[in-house]
Amino acid sequence: MTVLQIMTDSGGETLLRTADPARIGTELAAFHVDFQRRPAEHPLPAAADQDAVLALYRDQVDRLCAQRGFRLVDVARMQPRTDDPEWTAQAATARQRFLSEHRHSEDEVRFFVEGRGCFYLHLENRVYAVVCEAGDLLSVPSGTKHWYDMGEVPHFCAIRFFEEDDGWVGDFTGDPVAERIPSLDELMSQAAV
Ligand SMILES: [Fe+2]
Repeated sequence: MTVLQIMTDSGGETLLRTADPARIGTELAAFHVDFQRRPAEHPLPAAADQDAVLALYRDQVDRLCAQRGFRLVDVARMQPRTDDPEWTAQAATARQRFLSEHRHSEDEVRFFVEGRGCFYLHLENRVYAVVCEAGDLLSVPSGTKHWYDMGEVPHFCAIRFFEEDDGWVGDFTGDPVAERIPSLDELMSQAAV
């Protein structure tokens, strides 16, 4: 279930929690964050690599690139292998890499086609946690302070769109705000709306 939870950035106090896609879109649009629901109906075979995922979504990917001028596309996919200690260690490292607040020189655009991940957008003195699931297309404007939590057992597949080769490089702010805000797993364990 896609969820938006708006919290104070000082202590993570919840101001709004909604699973209504229209409301999520409206709340985010106020900050020029584009949120859309799109069809994501292709089940991904376990062995599907980047090329296979892109082939399944070729029409949508090509359309978005043409509409918005993206030059590069790749796929970030994590599939749980919790019985594999090596995978568990790799997952923890991958998760940690995106858990600190940062920003980019270009928009961060993700289309989720499997699983779940949470973008935390630091907008003025609030944090907008957007729990994205398959079918969610999120565009975070350049310069927006944010971080990403893939969860303790990462399971997601997101198609990533870029304008430049190095557009994804993060400029870390050093603000420890993420430590004050509930993690993805904590958010999902809180009472549903
Ligand atoms: Fe980022």
